[in-house]
Amino acid sequence: MSELRAQPPKSKVQEIRRLWMEKRDEEGVLASERWYEMSAKPVALAWRGRFLQRLKRNDEALLLFDQASRAGIGEPWFHISYVKALSLRGRDDDAAKYLASAIPKGKPESNGHLYDMQEGVNRRLARWDSAKDSGQLALKWRMDYQPFGRASILQKLISSLGVHLYLEIGVNDGSTFLKLDAPQKIAVDPRFKIPGGFENTDQEQWFQLTSDAFFLAQGSWLETNPPDLVFVDGLHTYAQSLADVYNALKYLRPGGMIVMHDCLPTSEAAAAPTTDRARELRGLADKGGAGGAWMGDVYRTILHLRSFNPELEVCVLDSDCGLGFVRPGKPESMLSLSEDQVRAFSYHDLVKNRESLLNLKTTDWFDSFEARLCRLDA
Ligand SMILES: C[S@@+](CC[C@H](N)C(=O)[O-])C[C@H]1O[C@@H](n2cnc3c(N)ncnc32)[C@H](O)[C@@H]1O
Repeated sequence: MSELRAQPPKSKVQEIRRLWMEKRDEEGVLASERWYEMSAKPVALAWRGRFLQRLKRNDEALLLFDQASRAGIGEPWFHISYVKALSLRGRDDDAAKYLASAIPKGKPESNGHLYDMQEGVNRRLARWDSAKDSGQLALKWRMDYQPFGRASILQKLISSLGVHLYLEIGVNDGSTFLKLDAPQKIAVDPRFKIPGGFENTDQEQWFQLTSDAFFLAQGSWLETNPPDLVFVDGLHTYAQSLADVYNALKYLRPGGMIVMHDCLPTSEAAAAPTTDRARELRGLADKGGAGGAWMGDVYRTILHLRSFNPELEVCVLDSDCGLGFVRPGKPESMLSLSEDQVRAFSYHDLVKNRESLLNLKTTDWFDSFEARLCRLDA
């Protein structure tokens, strides 16, 4: 009951979230201040801190997060905001100490993002061994609490296929790439945002390039070093994700597979072919970005492969915004769409019949699929 009462009124949260999404930060500061005056809820302090942080008023934000986090033990996003504010002030040392005491007090089921942050903070402090430990805890947390999330699925595939070389296209801050445990990993992204930076090692190679440029430059190396598992999660458009899949297939080791992220968009806006269109559909002013989740029209690539590639086995796992599995083999079934039909295929057309269009699989199916995979090193 007390937990229920601690929840802020839904309409207030909606109002604040709207201001946040629309980047109306000055109004957000005022609205959350009024909210706190009326309710004295720590969540209102934390929201005000978030708006202030985006307005680069970091010192004020820090004080609010400090207050909110002390009142809100067990609320991971308070801790996250506080640690972000400390790090933005260059106080990673304090952030590391704070996390070391906050994590054990939190609920284990909510600790995933805190481990991620701890990994990032330790990386920025060049405490590589501690960062590695936090990364392993973050991966273990995912395997326990998000067993069908992309990191868990990729790690399971790395183990069950016996992957030697893992390639990730679109790596961003490395929240998947850094955690995965494979003998050799290749990262490709035109703009890495890796905390603490990155350097080539025997285990990890980094290519700060678009995927097209990477395949062009590294084609002959890939011919002699074929990747066993490729994660396609770069630019979320039909054309680019299709190009990434076809390029990956050229070099994939026989028996290997491709996993694609974001094949099952969560809304019409999330499925828009461009971020501008996503903002437009969300009724947001033109300020860049998608204004929320953006899976793009990657789903069209699945429709395309299922229409034009009788040599490929393609399906989508109904998890983590749709994980597409693509590998050479006999398809279970095919579609007969033309390219024009694929291009015109709307989100609404998709949701009407998503099971058969995407060859959608429930998470129950994954174990039996995994059991059928043959080890590459057998
Ligand atoms: C959704 S993020 C990747 C997230 C990451 N795979 C993970 O699981 O945490 C998409 C990334 O794709 C990158 N990207 C955009 N265009 C790209 C391209 N043409 N080739 C490769 N990566 C691209 C962006 O810079 C961004 O970091």
